[in-house]
Amino acid sequence: MCGIVGILGREPVALRLVEALRRLEYRGYDSAGIAVLEGGEIRRVRAAGKLRNLVEKLSREDLSSTIGIGHTRWATHGGPSEHNAHPHVAGRVAIVHNGIIENYKELRAHLQARGITPVSDTDTEIVAHLIDLKLEEGAGPKEAVLAVLEELRGAFAFAIIFAGHDNLMIGARRGSPLAVGHGEGEMMLGSDAIALAPFTSRITYLEDGDVVFLTREGFEILDEERRHVIRPVQFTQAASLLVDKGGYRHFMAKEIHEQPDVIGHTMAEYLDFGEGRVRIPGLPVDLAALDRMTITACGTAFYAGLVGKYWIEQLARLPVEVDIASEFRYREAPLAEGGLSLVISQSGETADTLAALRYCKACGQKVAAVVNVPESTIARESDAVLRTFAGPEIGVASTKAFTCQLVVMAAFAIAVARARGRIDDEREAELVRAMQQLPRLVVQALEHEERIAEVAQELAHAQDILYLGRGINFPLAMEGALKFKEISYIHAEGYAAGELKHGPIALIDETVPVVVIAPRDALFEKTVSNMEEVLARGAKVVLITDEAGAAEHGAKTFQTITVPAADPFIAPVLYAIPVQLLAYHAAVFLGTDVDQPRNLAKSVTVE
Ligand code: AGP
Repeated sequence: MCGIVGILGREPVALRLVEALRRLEYRGYDSAGIAVLEGGEIRRVRAAGKLRNLVEKLSREDLSSTIGIGHTRWATHGGPSEHNAHPHVAGRVAIVHNGIIENYKELRAHLQARGITPVSDTDTEIVAHLIDLKLEEGAGPKEAVLAVLEELRGAFAFAIIFAGHDNLMIGARRGSPLAVGHGEGEMMLGSDAIALAPFTSRITYLEDGDVVFLTREGFEILDEERRHVIRPVQFTQAASLLVDKGGYRHFMAKEIHEQPDVIGHTMAEYLDFGEGRVRIPGLPVDLAALDRMTITACGTAFYAGLVGKYWIEQLARLPVEVDIASEFRYREAPLAEGGLSLVISQSGETADTLAALRYCKACGQKVAAVVNVPESTIARESDAVLRTFAGPEIGVASTKAFTCQLVVMAAFAIAVARARGRIDDEREAELVRAMQQLPRLVVQALEHEERIAEVAQELAHAQDILYLGRGINFPLAMEGALKFKEISYIHAEGYAAGELKHGPIALIDETVPVVVIAPRDALFEKTVSNMEEVLARGAKVVLITDEAGAAEHGAKTFQTITVPAADPFIAPVLYAIPVQLLAYHAAVFLGTDVDQPRNLAKSVTVE
């Protein structure tokens, strides 16, 4: 994901901005830049590639400004180039951005109709022009920014400066993180506390929808209702800044809330939003030549593989076998020379998955690894790496890595379907557009957290819980059960909804809550009838569905949790959010060690 930083200081900021950007390199990037105010005018220096290229260009500049913004860019809209690097400038406005503006095409058309032609391919430059237009119309910087934010759809974190305003910096966030740093007579903005660690350990974490106006003397925050709010100033210990809880009580909570941002960053690696295309570089096989493939993983990663199976078989009509690695490595599956095996692993160090990878290679298969740690053993031993960009995942219960794995599997399924001629350009573009909405929809799904926490406290009293789902929601049911059991220590099982009457329904009585995952899709009615079966036997049903499903089912559920309406293709990513939150809040209520649950390790490097 991109990194942003801003300093409103009392000494020259150019190299201080670079120092902050260095702390954000872990996020991954392909270009960088800064913009400062020299004599009231905007001066910008950008460079493709690594920060050293930017430093080399800065060595030829004489910048004494004490106000500036900086950015490390991971290309989303527009290729990785100096031309598309941030900061973007339009008239009196310089801006840096982390996130994805979904409606940038219509906003771009609006500008072109006013005779304004952006020079870059980015969504960010559009925002700079929109703000500058408001200034042209007589608005002040604050009013201009507030007005433009209302026109944007998607996820963003911004830092903005204005020619002629040497003591003003504006920040805003929706779906992407942004923190305020408090210095001695100076103020800062950063994507996280890590970026600001060289200058301060006093941090204020902005909340979704917040806008902040900074001067050297202080700051003012408006919430998403534009009311003045006070957000706490927190002290982050330098030692913990390598990975910071970001103001959350647990790493798991922070990582659940990072999902809009990291899903956007992972999508940017594989989806070309402008062209509506999927691009998966470096695959070791011709996808069109495949007649089957295997997927192997453990735990949550295995469930991501199962969701991938549904996507690949439904879209590409390619047979997929999915195995848990600890079984696969011993069942001696017959594998063809030159075939494709996918392994999925957040850590890239799971012993069973590594052993499965080695079995596949010994059979002459090409192996592609979906990993979150590019320098891991599994990555190094694979023929191709399909990275997730979730950032460091500290909580033992995997959350953001899972949804990023789903994003990679969805992109892969589209690529395979395209290669096999099962979908055309139009359908590919339609699926890419559906995925592009994910950051915004995940933000909306997270907005139900308070209600989900109440339901979780009810579930926390159970001894046994069943999770039910049909079709592509069946793996989600198993993932939800795994999340719940591994951090609350309550026995929970995920079942295919249609399987209940073949035995498990004997477990049902009024002491057994049943969580049903059922978007209003083609299987909804069948799942509702399974729900009626358990309701008739006294079960307390928690239904997770969308507005249409909630309005229609009519069953007397104990609780209904709604998820934003979405294209069925991306539903599995969205429905992961409520099941993660149910598990998290039940564990918090029970007082278990959420980030380090008993008996578990983050990476199982033994058999
Ligand atoms: C998930 O919440 C668990 N912590 C566990 O099942 C995990 O997914 C599994 O151990 C696989 O780990 P990996 O993705 O690092 O290979």
